Amino acid sequence: MATAYIIRRAVFSAAHRLHSEQLSDEQNRELYGKCDNPYGHGHNYTLEVTVQGEINPTTGMIINLADLKAIIEQQLLKHMDHRHLNHEVPFLKDVVPTTENLAVACWQQLQAAMPAGLLYEVKIYETENNYAVYRGE
Ligand code: NI
Repeated sequence: MATAYIIRRAVFSAAHRLHSEQLSDEQNRELYGKCDNPYGHGHNYTLEVTVQGEINPTTGMIINLADLKAIIEQQLLKHMDHRHLNHEVPFLKDVVPTTENLAVACWQQLQAAMPAGLLYEVKIYETENNYAVYRGE
């Protein structure tokens, strides 16, 4: 049986502020610059969720993409789209919403709702040029 990867992309918009409670206001300003703006700023994020597994010989699928779409919607987009990530998203409470931390949090949210062993990678683009990858390591 062949193992393959299938990828589902989703886009969402959200606001955030990069600000660490473990640093002083001055240190935050110095480290994060304009990304520390107290009222936040927005991004159009692109999320790519990669699932790895054996292709079911009957269906020709690793996972039904309709199911994966629903999991992404339920676990992530419902909570994050058009939200302020610092203030409105329970699973991001107490983390600085950098792209790296978003990748980890999205992975954990998806993993909780997926059949074991299928989730391979979460990739999240904050901009065209900046993105982070997490593989559960
Ligand atoms: Ni930003």
